[in-house]
Amino acid sequence: MRAVDIIIKKRHGESLDEKEIRFFIEGYVKGEIPDYQVSALLMAIFFQGMSAQETAALTQAMLDSGERMDLSGIPGPFIDKHSTGGVGDKISLPLAPIVAACGVRVPMMSGRALGHTGGTLDKLESIPGYITDLEPAEFRKGLLEEGFAMTGQTAHIVPADKKLYALRDVTGTIESIPLITASILSKKVAEGAEGIVFDVKCGSGAFMKGYDDAKALAKSLVATGKKMGKKVVAVLTNMSQPLGYKVGNFLEIEEALDCLEGKGPKDVMELTYWLGAWMLVLGGKAKDVSEGKSLCEEAIESKAALNLFYRNVVRQGGNLEEMQKKRGSWRSEYSMEIRADKDGYIASIDALKIGLAGVYLGVGRNRTEDSVSPTAGFIFDKKSGYHVSKGERIATLFGKDSQSLEAAFPLALNAISIENTAPSISSLILEEITVS
Ligand code: URA
Repeated sequence: MRAVDIIIKKRHGESLDEKEIRFFIEGYVKGEIPDYQVSALLMAIFFQGMSAQETAALTQAMLDSGERMDLSGIPGPFIDKHSTGGVGDKISLPLAPIVAACGVRVPMMSGRALGHTGGTLDKLESIPGYITDLEPAEFRKGLLEEGFAMTGQTAHIVPADKKLYALRDVTGTIESIPLITASILSKKVAEGAEGIVFDVKCGSGAFMKGYDDAKALAKSLVATGKKMGKKVVAVLTNMSQPLGYKVGNFLEIEEALDCLEGKGPKDVMELTYWLGAWMLVLGGKAKDVSEGKSLCEEAIESKAALNLFYRNVVRQGGNLEEMQKKRGSWRSEYSMEIRADKDGYIASIDALKIGLAGVYLGVGRNRTEDSVSPTAGFIFDKKSGYHVSKGERIATLFGKDSQSLEAAFPLALNAISIENTAPSISSLILEEITVS
């Protein structure tokens, strides 16, 4: 088999078989196929696409490049959630303990903030002492005893994705549905989930901004996930404004605690319950979404989910007392307020601009090696649809230092528009995709 023949075949729009795909992935990981040939294949895939069959073969070959989380001996079901990333998206934090409290185990491997999107690991690490690089034995113990654990990906999980993603990043081939599908799904399957609920965001703050692109990705994830023998569903959700009232690392921990105490913002709770309900359906604990939602609500009302979250914090080295002490007051000393310049209705709060301003503030990072600040971020007093009077505060920004605040402020100001008439607010849950 020759790499060049496979590249030409795909360039002509023909389907690759499983052996050809495996030859490429294995050869690349071993260093036998050079970057320039893999780049050429990636570009051919970008333009010609891949069938669900090919995407599943690519996912499997990438999965087989590394290790899988060993969950043997732990009773299931194991169901996870994957979000394509957004601004103020702290859903994983209340979701995992809620679902675990309902009897479905959640083996959660999360990522870090990158670009305008936040990362669950950075949020968790803002809890003093909290550790996210768990040894497999610790991860298993948490999963067994609390029903969930939160860790980062090890270098041994899907090494092919690390190499391929870095190459895609510099060859203009990130935005390819089959390549995104294989990248996301291979990592989710490696962590041992039997079922996955995908939260595919769409809107300005989303990876896939347009509805049609987001829907195509959702369908591809569902089709390929099913071919891989997984129970899958995708929910298309709106990411045109940040989720909740707080954006930041410790600020989002605070909002997650509010959710677990039954006083979370409406949008965050709506999405948490929706995704949680589907996780319970896939895990066989609820017959439908409506029953799943009632079970999730009970887990909040009984404080079962909150107690599991506390136990997880302690297990992963976090200082509960410090966390509670800092709650409501741990803010950067560098702050500025955005106030309404006229009477009217908030027509939009652009999630992308807020996310990018967040990078300046120190919530997120441009490069993987950058550090983030626990106390940077935004607290919104008002969201889209609210009426404001001239001079009324809409948001407070907290920056890691005064320069970052100066840089973020104009961008954040520009993200908020005020109009004379009330805007029509589109719903948060846009569509559910259960079949491809
Ligand atoms: N997220 C991933 O994990 N992979 C992609 O290719 C895109 C988004």
